[in-house]
Amino acid sequence: MNRQCDLSTTPPFGPVAPSRPAPRAVQWPAPGSVLGGRYLLLRHHASGGTSVIYRGRDLLAERAGYPADVAIKIIRGIDDPELALRMSMLELATSRRLPEAGLIRVHDCGRQGATPYLIMEWLEGENLAELLHRSPDRRLPLRRAATILTPVANTLFALHRRGMVHTDVKPGNIFLTTDGRVKLLDLATVREMGDGQEQRGETGWLGYSPAYASPETRNDEPASPQDDIYSLACVLYETIAGTKPYPSTAEKGDAPPAPRRPGTLNPAQWELLRRSLASDHEKRPRSAPALLQGMRLAATPMLAGWAASVVLAIAVLVAALAPHENLVEEEGGTVEAPATSEYRYTADRRQPGNE
Ligand SMILES: Nc1ncnc2c1ncn2[C@@H]1O[C@H](COP(=O)(O)OP(=O)(O)O)[C@@H](O)[C@H]1O
Ligand SMILES: [Mg+2]
Repeated sequence: MNRQCDLSTTPPFGPVAPSRPAPRAVQWPAPGSVLGGRYLLLRHHASGGTSVIYRGRDLLAERAGYPADVAIKIIRGIDDPELALRMSMLELATSRRLPEAGLIRVHDCGRQGATPYLIMEWLEGENLAELLHRSPDRRLPLRRAATILTPVANTLFALHRRGMVHTDVKPGNIFLTTDGRVKLLDLATVREMGDGQEQRGETGWLGYSPAYASPETRNDEPASPQDDIYSLACVLYETIAGTKPYPSTAEKGDAPPAPRRPGTLNPAQWELLRRSLASDHEKRPRSAPALLQGMRLAATPMLAGWAASVVLAIAVLVAALAPHENLVEEEGGTVEAPATSEYRYTADRRQPGNE
């Protein structure tokens, strides 16, 4: 098995030749191709860390008079089309298991010759990385950041209640639709709680983004909600500070320099965010919504010192005990395609993968 993927290769574009016996390497379909006798590939849309996304149309749905826009995803960096198909099948299975409104919907997947493909609902909008990229100083006001990330936190909470962990929460995987919904993308890395190095599913592949992955993920420890809470805290920090809390060059074992307080946070808010970014997962809030709810509760500018600690303790406690029914299920969200260097994709995470 390949131990790791070369993500630096630009996919070669060419027509699909389904009549020839499938060669080993994945083939890239040209616009105008019809996949599975049904999905028309219209144009290239985005390149993610591990895949290429096309805009497409479901010809069958169109004929039946249903909405027919789809996104077509083709995994890159994996030579074997059969392995790529199995990974797409896992994304489809995960989507069926997790019907949360805040998660991307996967409709179908298949393989046409040497072209494996995944069919998703089409989203109009942009991802959070793209939004940050075009924002002044690459950051957003805290209030706007909270509006975007609260539904993400609620979606993560719903996932965690089902015993699942996303493990790749980052700006490129948060999509903001033009009609105001926030969607968490990319189900390729969703793992079961407690799922560790030895239980990574039939494909044997795992991916994560070093700049946002928790120390536990980078150290191959079993998946837990604390991984997503840490990543969410990294995203919140970046969204309000305009820089990542830790340099992406930080490797496991390194002690990265402590992040600096973003100017828009009061001491109580900073204390909560700092704890959420702690390498010791015991210090982080118990739930993803606790982070966002705590930020709101601690918003009083006068709070500092012991008063801040009291509010912080109340914020974390209230959020940790909040029953699921009390959480507002909001929709909305998206992000810029991450640079290849932001993603690490490796068959054995004990071996360093490509940056
Ligand atoms: N269903 C979709 N509709 C519209 N754009 C999408 C959709 N899915 C992904 N994208 C865009 O493509 C980018 C990469 O998609 P993603 O599923 O995260 O792939 P990767 O696994 O390569 O990161 C996203 O950041 C987003 O901008
Ligand atoms: Mg992605």
